[in-house]
Amino acid sequence: DSGLVSLDYGYTNTGSTKSQITFVDGEKGILRYRGYNIEDLAAYTTFPETAWLLIYGNLPTREELGTFRRLLTENALIHENLLNFFREMPPSAHPMGILGAVVNALGLFTPRFYDDESKQDAFNLTVASLISKVRTIAAFSYKASIGEPFVYPDAEKSYCSNFLNMMFSSKAKPYNVDPLFVHALNVLLIVHADHEQNCSTSTVRMVGSSQASLYASICAGICALWGPLHGGANQAALETLMNIHQSGLTVKQVIEKAKNKKDPFKLYGFGHRVYKNYDPRAKVLKGLVHTIFDREHIADPLLDIASELEEAALNDDYFIERKLYPNVDFYSGILYHAMEIPTNMLTVMFAIGRLPGWIAHWKEMHDDPLSKINRPRQIYTGYAERPWLPIDNRG
Ligand code: SDX
Repeated sequence: DSGLVSLDYGYTNTGSTKSQITFVDGEKGILRYRGYNIEDLAAYTTFPETAWLLIYGNLPTREELGTFRRLLTENALIHENLLNFFREMPPSAHPMGILGAVVNALGLFTPRFYDDESKQDAFNLTVASLISKVRTIAAFSYKASIGEPFVYPDAEKSYCSNFLNMMFSSKAKPYNVDPLFVHALNVLLIVHADHEQNCSTSTVRMVGSSQASLYASICAGICALWGPLHGGANQAALETLMNIHQSGLTVKQVIEKAKNKKDPFKLYGFGHRVYKNYDPRAKVLKGLVHTIFDREHIADPLLDIASELEEAALNDDYFIERKLYPNVDFYSGILYHAMEIPTNMLTVMFAIGRLPGWIAHWKEMHDDPLSKINRPRQIYTGYAERPWLPIDNRG
């Protein structure tokens, strides 16, 4: 009698959800990029190598990697007109908002390459330029937020070393890039590089399917990643650990809060739509945390809390029944914190890592001659046909 009906037009999503890029087995906790296990890529490659693998389909030869590294170095600068953007934003502006806006603006300085598909070089240049420039944008947004002068990219430094230098060096205080942190940053970016049809990657495919530019599609992916249920969870997970440390809450109290449905409290960094087992990326990062903290003799109460929290959750029926395990966001924040990357930059770090995956999916879709604009259908649950009502007969 509510007049509501349920008309099922069926789900016909014309977007391709077939992909050759990443394989995830949620039950077994397996993640592979183009067939290579994430554990091997984290242990033996650098982020540029893995980025190339995702986008072009194979691990690069020495020559291909050399060319890619050169393009990354040569295209690290952003147009000087864009610097005003950082200065005009409030210091409290969230770096994800700045990243999305400036990436979209990059497209205004660059011709749309796929107007002429034959220009593969133009695509390769755009890819290297985007992957290089997001690092510069991130570092500049941090410098602007603390009122320090920008540190420009250094042509002599590697991808990750350059980023740390742009973030933390200044004319006033020397900054020696720690090779261990460079290694850790490579691993962090590698494990974030792709994850099949997650929310932000599906967004990039959705926007890209309309033939919007790569820059506009990536900007949409950045906006989707920002949400605390997705990429924003790493910031929320670290803040949860910090709040526990500052509040003196016991781990047992935190576990009980997470189970209390009346309380909006979530244990960020736990649970996953696909992984119903330990997220293999969390395993890699957990190992890295202990390696770094042992070697650098770092004693961080946040790591102690995280370890206790994980132990308690993995032995709690609520979590066991729901197959809630640590996900990629649970340990990443602790590593970034150790590198002194500020909490509000954590989702930007996720975006820097995820960019090659977004580009790979965008390319895969554009390379598919059968690809069409995504247009999911729906199950209509609204009113059946109704006659129009004059305004005096309403209410
Ligand atoms: C990422 O898709 C991807 O691949 C994403 C990602 C990628 O690489 O792109 O892997 C990156 O986004 C990782 C996830 C980061 N998000 C968080 O850590 C936020 C906290 N996690 C939850 O919000 C949740 O686990 C999700 C969103 C990740 C997954 O949610 P689902 O699959 O929709 O599961 P759900 O919300 O329906 O939860 C099922 C049950 C519910 O309890 P009941 O209703 O059955 O009683 O589990 C509970 C939930 O309340 N639950 C949690 C919980 N996660 C799920 N309870 C407490 N704390 C949590 N973290």
